[in-house]
Amino acid sequence: MRTVRLESETDLDGWRTHARALLFEGVQPAHAAFRTGTTTAGLFEEVAPPSPAPASLALTVPRAFMDLAAAVALHRSEDRFDLLYRLLWRLQQDRHLLNIVSDRDVADAMERAKNVSRASHKMKAFVRFRRIGDAGDERWIAWFEPAHRVLERTAPFFQRRFTTMRWTILTPDGTADWDGKHLTFGPPATKDQAPEGDDVEEFWKTYYASTFNPARLKTKMMQSEMPRRYWANLPEAALIPELVARAAVREEAMVRAPATPTNARLSRATAPVVERATTNEVVPTSLPALAAGVQGCRRCPLWRDATQAVCGRGPTQAPLMIVGEQPGDQEDLAGEPFVGPAGQVLDAALAEADLDRNAAWITNAVKHFKHEPRGKRRLHKTPDAGEVQACRWWLDAERALVKPRLIVTLGATAALGVLGRKIAVTKERGRPVRLDDGTAVLPTVHPSYLLRLPDAEMREAERARFIADLKAAKALLADAE
Ligand code: URA
Repeated sequence: MRTVRLESETDLDGWRTHARALLFEGVQPAHAAFRTGTTTAGLFEEVAPPSPAPASLALTVPRAFMDLAAAVALHRSEDRFDLLYRLLWRLQQDRHLLNIVSDRDVADAMERAKNVSRASHKMKAFVRFRRIGDAGDERWIAWFEPAHRVLERTAPFFQRRFTTMRWTILTPDGTADWDGKHLTFGPPATKDQAPEGDDVEEFWKTYYASTFNPARLKTKMMQSEMPRRYWANLPEAALIPELVARAAVREEAMVRAPATPTNARLSRATAPVVERATTNEVVPTSLPALAAGVQGCRRCPLWRDATQAVCGRGPTQAPLMIVGEQPGDQEDLAGEPFVGPAGQVLDAALAEADLDRNAAWITNAVKHFKHEPRGKRRLHKTPDAGEVQACRWWLDAERALVKPRLIVTLGATAALGVLGRKIAVTKERGRPVRLDDGTAVLPTVHPSYLLRLPDAEMREAERARFIADLKAAKALLADAE
């Protein structure tokens, strides 16, 4: 038996050199064995390098074989290089061997290449970075245990995705490090070298739990898409057992629940709308008067389907006013702004920007929840320009009473309500503009925009931009003091 020891687990170049030499010597696959650092040679195996093949020996293999070999070499099976040698040997007799997909060796190699490609795909989906260091000097570290040795193959994906971030991926096979300019690979790492969790993780878990729909649960599909082997390093995986355990009960409750009785709100919908001429025209002189007055507002039809008007909250004369779009489902029921999922994202971001939510006046451009019924759910609908314009009467009154030094607008509707004109939020975000009375206004995105982003990496990047905008607001407030 001729045994070759390769320099590393993924030493494809070494394999190629030795395989060529063995082929030249006529060593049959049954008499050749390739070993790597961790695989031991058998008791009677001879570990000796074959004599080098003459440089003139031209070995021609189809390009598809080299692509296949590059993937199979990353598979964790011990005999992967033996299989490749067998294929190489057989290719000398039949150049079209790879086209015979029913051939055992061909099928086996293709299956292993598929596993490797899947491991790379899962790595792209399940690497979760944790932040270390302060803003301006932050690094993102991830611990990941790929099913196969795909770190080097997959790292360029993260380089393209996170070009502006400094990140390191630690794995038991090695580490990949991107410093903003160079991608380098280092020795294997251990899990304890990676940070355990960070504040981004809480945000992500909140998002995950809030989007989990018990009625759509398909455990088998979920486990195939997110195999258990990755759970240990996924923050959201800690939630899965409980979400799954409660899913059946939650779903049953949804099915058993009696149809919602016709609600007073919906019956009111049939009532004729009282037109704006009859609405409150006396500008309120205090915030409690405003809160009471807005409950009777008939300036637009949105009052008919809402539980109540949701007025602003916070300390009178707060230096910072934060304006959202309109109350959501939970805010409509609670009578308070930003208490639902978007509120949680906002709270976490404010805390990161070192802004105290309780020191700000939090309100919305539109005070009634605009929605449409869908089964038992009420789906958010964006208020139209007329509704925003109608509600500006209240927002202006609120502004005149609170007298903030700075207003942060969240999303396009909030900006329209405060500025009275449409803006392109993504272009104008983070840059303050002045109202006629000199009040500074800083537009940024709405937190629910972050909740809607389907891609975890993009979500993290956008969240960082949102926090940067809030930090800019903090600096502006400090300047205006
Ligand atoms: N979205 C908003 O714009 N405002 C809220 O109060 C809640 C969600």
